[in-house]
Amino acid sequence: MRSLIKHVLKRTDPCDELHVAGWVRTRRDSKAFSFLELNDGSCLGNLQIVADAGIPGYEDIAKMSTGASIEVRGRLIPSPAAGQAWEMQAESLKLLGGVPEDYPLQKKGHGPEFLRGIAHLRPRTNLYGAVFRMRSRMAFAVHEFFQKRDFIYVHTPIITASDCEGAGEMFRVTTLPDDKISKAEDDFFGKRAYLTVSGQLEGETFACALSNIYTFGPTFRAENSNTSRHAAEFWMIEPEVAFCDLEGDMDLAEALVKHLVTEALTKSDDDLTIFEKFVDKGLRERLEFVASRPFERISYTDAVELLISSGKKFEYPVAYGLNLQSEHERWLTEEHFKKPVTVFNYPKEIKPFYMRLNDDGKTVTAMDVLVPGIGEIIGGSQREERLDVLLENFKKHDLDPENYSWYADLRKYGSVPHAGFGLGFERLLMFVTGMANIRDVIPFARTPGHCEF
Ligand code: 4AD
Ligand code: MG
Repeated sequence: MRSLIKHVLKRTDPCDELHVAGWVRTRRDSKAFSFLELNDGSCLGNLQIVADAGIPGYEDIAKMSTGASIEVRGRLIPSPAAGQAWEMQAESLKLLGGVPEDYPLQKKGHGPEFLRGIAHLRPRTNLYGAVFRMRSRMAFAVHEFFQKRDFIYVHTPIITASDCEGAGEMFRVTTLPDDKISKAEDDFFGKRAYLTVSGQLEGETFACALSNIYTFGPTFRAENSNTSRHAAEFWMIEPEVAFCDLEGDMDLAEALVKHLVTEALTKSDDDLTIFEKFVDKGLRERLEFVASRPFERISYTDAVELLISSGKKFEYPVAYGLNLQSEHERWLTEEHFKKPVTVFNYPKEIKPFYMRLNDDGKTVTAMDVLVPGIGEIIGGSQREERLDVLLENFKKHDLDPENYSWYADLRKYGSVPHAGFGLGFERLLMFVTGMANIRDVIPFARTPGHCEF
C-alpha cells in the first residue's frame, strides 16, 4: 500500500517494502545514479530518493523533472546525508505524468500575485501547501472546540430571504435566464432570494431550542471592497448560546481564539517553520503570547477617548458615533495594548437591528474582537430578546416585520437572553499563518472582479 511521505519521514525504523508517490521537486543526476526530492503534499518535507541507473523505470529519468508525478517502490534506509534521518533506495520507478517545459512552478520562489493567477497549481508550493494544511487543521479544531463543549452543529441555509446585517450587501439568487434578470423582481421560483451574509438569525432559532449551537459554513458579501481582508465569499463560524449575556459571549470568543491559536502552535508539524521563514519571523512568539494572556476589554466609548487622546494623526476621523476604521483597530492592538482587544457596547446607530439595547438607551451589547496585524476577526452581541424593543427596532431599521415574523416568534414564545458571534475563518487563518492577504488563505478567492475558476 502507498505510504504518505508524512508518515515515512516520521518512521523510527527502516522498511524493506516502501511504496510512495508524489511530484518531483528537484532531481540531480550523476553517471551511476540520480537523487530525487519527492513531495506528496502531506507535509512540508520531501523524501530523498536514490535511484541507481538501470533499475526498472530509470529509462524515463530524463522526464522526471520538477512537477512530474512518479511512483517509487523500494527500501527506506538511514541516510548518510546531514539534516535527514531517512532516504529511499529505489528498486523501481514509474513515470505517471511528465511535464512540458512550460511548467509554471520553478525552483525559484514566486510572488503571491503570480501564484494567485495559477490558483490551481499554487497548493503544490511549499508555502501554500502549508497554508491549506493549516486551513484543514483549523477547521477540525473549530469542531473539536465546540463538540467538546456539547455545542450542536447546525447547518443554516445558504439561500435565504433575510438580510441579517441589514447592510444591503446580498447577492441575488436567480433561476431566470440571463436576458430576463435585469427586469425581474421575484426571481427565485417566484420569490426573492439571496445568498446568506450570516447564519445567525437561523442559528438563533436553534439556540432557542437546543441551547448551545454553532454553524460553520460559507457566507457571502456583495460589498465592493478591494482590501487585503475582505472577500465576497468567506467562511464563518457562528456560535449562538441561550441563557448567555455579553460577558459570557466575550469569554467564549476569547476561549475559541485561544484554543485555535494553541492548536496551530502544537499541531502544525513543520508548517510554522515555513511561515516564519517566508512570511512572519516572529510568528510563533506572537501566537504563544496571544494563547497565554488575557485579552484586553474596553468599551467603545473608552476606546474612542483613548484614540482621541493619543494625539495620533489618523487618515479617518475618530469621534463618538463613527465606526472604528482598520487603522484605529490597529493602533489599539498594535501600538497601545499590544495584544488582542475586545471592544464592547457600541452606539446603537452603527449596529444592526438584532443587538440588545443597553439600559443607557444609547448603546447596544455589541462586541468586536480585534487582533494585531489584522483588526476585527470577530463580531458579535447579546441579542434583543424583548419583543416590544425588537418590534421597535424593525421600524427604526426600516425592516418589514412580516418578513421577520418567525424571528419575532422566538421572543413571543418562551424568549430567553441569548448571545453569539461570528469568527471570520479566513481572518483567523491570516492570523495563525502570518499571510498578509485574504486571497492567499482561500483555495479559490472570490473578490471583486475575480472568479476565474
Ligand atoms: O461582523 P460581522 O458582519 O458579523 C456578523 O455577520 C454577525 N451576524 C455574526 C454573529 O453575530 N453571528 O462578521 C463577522 C466576522 C467579522 O468579524 C470578520 O472576521 C468576518 O466575519 N467577515 C469577513 N471576512 C472576510 N471578508 C468579508 N467581507 C467579511 N465580512 C465579515
Ligand atoms: Mg463586524
